[in-house]
Amino acid sequence: MKKDLIDIQDLSREDIDELIAVAEDIIADPDKYAEKCRRKKLATLFYEPSTRTRLSFEAAMYELGGQVIGFSEANSSSAAKGESVADTARTVACFADIIAMRHPKEGAPMVAARSTHIPVINAGDGGHNHPTQTLTDLLTIAREKGRLDDLTIGCCGDLKFGRTVHSLIAAMHRYPGVRFVLISPEELVIPEHVRTDILQANNIEFLETRDLEAVMPELDILYMTRVQRERFFNEADYIRLKDSYILTPDKLTYAKPDLAILHPLPRVNEIAVAIDSDPRACYFRQVLCGKYIRMALILKLLGVK
Ligand code: CP
Repeated sequence: MKKDLIDIQDLSREDIDELIAVAEDIIADPDKYAEKCRRKKLATLFYEPSTRTRLSFEAAMYELGGQVIGFSEANSSSAAKGESVADTARTVACFADIIAMRHPKEGAPMVAARSTHIPVINAGDGGHNHPTQTLTDLLTIAREKGRLDDLTIGCCGDLKFGRTVHSLIAAMHRYPGVRFVLISPEELVIPEHVRTDILQANNIEFLETRDLEAVMPELDILYMTRVQRERFFNEADYIRLKDSYILTPDKLTYAKPDLAILHPLPRVNEIAVAIDSDPRACYFRQVLCGKYIRMALILKLLGVK
């Protein structure tokens, strides 16, 4: 049976640990993997803008010896003429071996997966899920901290629309000793379904607060997020909330010396550029982890050893 990745919860903890181990092996010996996907094609179907996700998927496939086809905006595909996601996926499956899809509508990659016989990877669907960003985050945390358990993880910013935070919580709650500190303005708190169905349902310790500086000394990981302009109905609300949290060097005064600062990027204004030279700033190393974990995922879904 073909495998897809639509939601991070499609993967068991064992699956995740295996993907991380393969990614580590690729980092250690990239030449071993250089021909693994010869004659295979990845289709990147991006109906929404992307820099990291699309280009890291494409780099991943090229570094596995494969090829890439696709589009980077809906308007350059027949979606502009009204073609459905299902028909597009069925068509692309005639040309490619695996699909990575980003779409503004929640559930679109699931529709694509049900319409084709080839694996479909959700590369971000609306405010819902972004499982390959979560795999990227997990590899980054594993490399930076040497573990995925016994961590206090602060998630800061737009926790309502931030799909990467929802997926991160859904993945990390399975590791023992993980505690979440959720830092956001009142209007952008974590959705009720994440609070009840994941955190409370699994007895995960969590704290909700507005005050980043007060909780900074507790944090092992600080996961900053952008306020998602594209998800707001009202521009005035976005402008009022967009600079709710700006991480500046003075705010790190009481942070742990081995804090790891992550951000899925793109950054707008929520981390001052002055932080970039702090060794605790991991977000550009995180980008590179995205390529390696996507290489591991492509191999797994294509069944390539
Ligand atoms: N992190 C992330 O999804 O970045 P892009 O939107 O640039 O792909």
